[in-house]
Amino acid sequence: MAKPPVQTLESPISADSTRQAGGSDPQRFDVREAWYPVFYLADLPRDRPLSFTLLGEDLAIWWDAQAQCWRAFQDSCPHRLAPLSEGRINEAGLLECPYHGWSFTGSGQCDRIPQQPEGTQAQTAKRACAKTFPTAIAQGLLFIYAGNPENAAETPIPLVDPLEDMPEGWVVLNTFRDLPYDALTLLENVIDSSHIPYTHHQSVGNRANAGPVELEIISAGKGGFQGFWQEGPRRGTLGSQHTRFVAPI
Ligand code: FES
Repeated sequence: MAKPPVQTLESPISADSTRQAGGSDPQRFDVREAWYPVFYLADLPRDRPLSFTLLGEDLAIWWDAQAQCWRAFQDSCPHRLAPLSEGRINEAGLLECPYHGWSFTGSGQCDRIPQQPEGTQAQTAKRACAKTFPTAIAQGLLFIYAGNPENAAETPIPLVDPLEDMPEGWVVLNTFRDLPYDALTLLENVIDSSHIPYTHHQSVGNRANAGPVELEIISAGKGGFQGFWQEGPRRGTLGSQHTRFVAPI
């Protein structure tokens, strides 16, 4: 498969990014003010739009051949709210709504209204624009910024550091699995290691290993926490364990 072209933001994100994910409030992590991976690039078709729901927001994702980059629009046409993800990428390479055929450029600008009388310019109205979200690609994934688009370029993408350091040194199991529950339920489950001896008995767990999980919190703040568990899992047979939780994932 051909390697996808590198897509960058107008202001490239670097280690010098000035803004932390989570917004400017030091006490509260705003989950919208962060980059989220939504698809492996290898799974994305370029000849049709598709849908994704991010933090409750329905999105239409599509390949903009003119700009050679991925686009994320609110999945709701500014005309009569039809889902743009059910439309098509037309012959001009624009996203076309399935209901009345309005078409949109990658920046969200309405380009054409087929029913419009000659000489009128309703497509130039601001309210005819589709709402767009910033996108970026990194480590084989498409990322979308869910918050204020003006903050996107300054907010670092949550990259996996060892992959950055040695991209060819790892085998990435790039499977994507939809789970029928929300992210917070999954998150609670993953950081709750005390369930493993019972839920996963005879696979990765053993009921005989159930015991106290005495995690010493080393640091904690808006961005997450770090802890140390002296005994570690399986009653110490695997040594101690360090835990680092990075909000919001
Ligand atoms: S609802 Fe999209 S063109 Fe009418």
